[in-house]
Amino acid sequence: MASPLTTTAQPATGTGDVILRTRGLTKQYGKRLAVNNLNLEVYRGDIFGFLGPNGAGKTTTIRMVLGLIAPTSGSVELLGQDIATHSAQILPRVGALVETPALYLYMTGRDNLRALSQSLGGVDDARIERVLVQVGLAARQKDRVRTYSLGMKQRLGVAMALMNDPDVLVLDEPANGLDPAGIVEMRELLRSLAAQGKTIVISSHVLGEVQQLCSRVGIINLGQLVTEARPDDLTRGTGMFMVYVEDAPAALAALQRESWSLGARLDPNGAIFTPAPDGRGRNLNKFLVDAGYIPDSIIYQNETLEQAFLRLTNAAPGGAR
Ligand SMILES: Nc1ncnc2c1ncn2[C@@H]1O[C@H](COP(=O)(O)OP(=O)(O)OP(=O)(O)O)[C@@H](O)[C@H]1O
Ligand SMILES: [Mg+2]
Repeated sequence: MASPLTTTAQPATGTGDVILRTRGLTKQYGKRLAVNNLNLEVYRGDIFGFLGPNGAGKTTTIRMVLGLIAPTSGSVELLGQDIATHSAQILPRVGALVETPALYLYMTGRDNLRALSQSLGGVDDARIERVLVQVGLAARQKDRVRTYSLGMKQRLGVAMALMNDPDVLVLDEPANGLDPAGIVEMRELLRSLAAQGKTIVISSHVLGEVQQLCSRVGIINLGQLVTEARPDDLTRGTGMFMVYVEDAPAALAALQRESWSLGARLDPNGAIFTPAPDGRGRNLNKFLVDAGYIPDSIIYQNETLEQAFLRLTNAAPGGAR
């Protein structure tokens, strides 16, 4: 499968554009198969969304990718080398945030980054300053982390992942606990990092978020890859049109007399959802105009990623195991 960004890619890993590859990756906890024979490929410049419900195996996979836990079987190749044998070469080029960041709550945000920089062998203050600006924490850098909101702690976690200016960022649920404004900020931050040429792997169960951000998506359920695709290819048309019209109940009654209008309904906001003759919006428009109900708008309805996800995983909303 080709990356949408391969045209700008600069192979430098000895394996072409593949930045991360898992082969038959499996993790068993007792009798539970947390990750089951996972084959994934992430290409340079991708923002790869690793999507699945609670307990699907996202964090377990990410821990194996980073070499934090050993797989039961299978292997991980990151930046062209096997993580099991070459983590010392690989990890300095990788920034990671797994679940909640480990922070010193009694220290300031800036001092947390200083402490980390010392453990990395020294990073200059200008770099710390730049990273703080990048994640939008410059104004609060001198406050103790204890006083930070959840979103600010999350952004400080991303700042820590960025300290060594990594080629690859692996972030487990970076939008976790963020409010809508925080989610938009995080999305813009990740976009700007990808624009700088970084490859980004994020896990998420926030489906709309992944759809807006990611160039490719892997859906995992019960430890297995369900599908791997571009977000646009995952969602498909529902065959329904959303119609706003002045006298919606009367227009709906007119629609419901037609054989092609199976499933037409009025939603609580006053919009009509209906199929169209031959599936074409122009035919629906003509029908409504001829019937005396001139539409204010007709919008074709694509499936949301959430609907696609539920269809592909066949899971009930909130369904974990
Ligand atoms: N250390 C462990 N010991 C035993 N079972 C574990 C362990 N870690 C994870 N599991 C199990 O492995 C499965 C996958 O868990 P994992 O944390 O990878 O899921 P996840 O996709 O990250 O879920 P979430 O969205 O809730 O973070 C779950 O059934 C979980 O209970
Ligand atoms: Mg998890």
